[in-house]
Amino acid sequence: MMMISISNILLLALAAANGCSAFLHSGINSAAAVRRDIPLLHSSTQATEPSSQPRSGIAQELLNLALKSPLWTYVMVPQARASIVKTAESNGIQWMNAKSWLNEQLSTKDYSDVVYPEYYKQSFHAYQDGNLSYDAAVEQELASRAVGARNFPKYGERGEDVFRDSFDKALAGIGARICDNTNEQGKKVIVDFGCGTGTSTRRMASQYPQVDQLIGIDLSPYFVDVGNTLLNLAPNAIENGSGWITSITPDERIELRQGDMANTLLPSNSASVVNLSLVVHELPTSVAKQVVSEAYRILQPGGQLWISEMDFESTAYKAQRENALLFSLLRATEPYLDDYADGCKELREFIVDTFDSTKITAATGRHYALVAEKGLENNGDDVDRVKRLEDYRFREDGSYAVEDTHLKPWESKDD
Ligand SMILES: C[S@@+](CC[C@H](N)C(=O)[O-])C[C@H]1O[C@@H](n2cnc3c(N)ncnc32)[C@H](O)[C@@H]1O
Repeated sequence: MMMISISNILLLALAAANGCSAFLHSGINSAAAVRRDIPLLHSSTQATEPSSQPRSGIAQELLNLALKSPLWTYVMVPQARASIVKTAESNGIQWMNAKSWLNEQLSTKDYSDVVYPEYYKQSFHAYQDGNLSYDAAVEQELASRAVGARNFPKYGERGEDVFRDSFDKALAGIGARICDNTNEQGKKVIVDFGCGTGTSTRRMASQYPQVDQLIGIDLSPYFVDVGNTLLNLAPNAIENGSGWITSITPDERIELRQGDMANTLLPSNSASVVNLSLVVHELPTSVAKQVVSEAYRILQPGGQLWISEMDFESTAYKAQRENALLFSLLRATEPYLDDYADGCKELREFIVDTFDSTKITAATGRHYALVAEKGLENNGDDVDRVKRLEDYRFREDGSYAVEDTHLKPWESKDD
């Protein structure tokens, strides 16, 4: 029973690598408190207290010790991994075949001399080397689909698509769009921060044919290699006679590159959109703020920042954070989850303060979508602007605006 729970938590944590779980915390009121000139165009009932605090005390210390022990590393994690593969295979996601197919095509390189920010050199998603291995990179999309299938059993292998669709609809509902004007080079450009192996970048490419270029940036050269290999191979899905779990459409507008999204080296005012799909919960708040500033710098006037993330103010994630065991397991695979949960209000205030208008809405029963716009008149001058925040995440009675349909970590799809 316990192993089932651990496997499910690990599934959730791995999903964070490609989008299937997330958390966050509130702050429309507090944003107003920081900037008294913020007109709140819409505000329903919002939580103003921190969602819940991480547990402390002897029991928590013991739990933390257990999670750093060889038992966790050499027994629980491998077992949970095996369970993820089983979940995938039983849902028609041919993990083993697809993994060996991709490994055969991949020409690996030595990236031992690449320098990374300190926060990034952590174990993530139960991979000892975090995002810095080919194994983590090859499994990213496999795990993502497994989690989608696990979280939304009604949709089986298509669960992840349904999950990502809900963000697209939510973003569109709060005005996500590609601005009409081009940049100085006459182009419309989307920059996908933390693109991973390119799932989010390819998705936007298919949705926005009017865009001239999509640049995906990721710190992990392994993820970028795998993403580029998938694009170059443009495989059909296994059931259509090729080797990968999904069909991938070649698209010359897409360029995936290794780099730091906090310092992209891209020209100022050059992007129509900067996208952050399920990236922010993997960052310390201080880094997330640098990333928001960099997004603002490279966006052209009229350009938008899009964020899809976990909402720690949603009832579902609040409850998970209050469950010491559950949250400790999650935290063991997501090193900045507490920082993210505690800092989300601060980050939202920062976004509201940086951009000219910000809108946020519920995407799933536990995730939000956010659109922040750099005003058309805004050429980066440090003038005193009127900042706006519209928050549509909660109903009048304080409940989250979208019903939570995720399978709970402790449920099995046969319940
Ligand atoms: C959970 S994945 C999201 C992948 C993708 N956006 C998606 O929707 O599938 C988060 C990604 O952020 C990347 N990342 C973290 N810090 C970064 C940084 N400073 N610069 C670029 N990428 C970063 C990680 O390497 C990881 O691939």
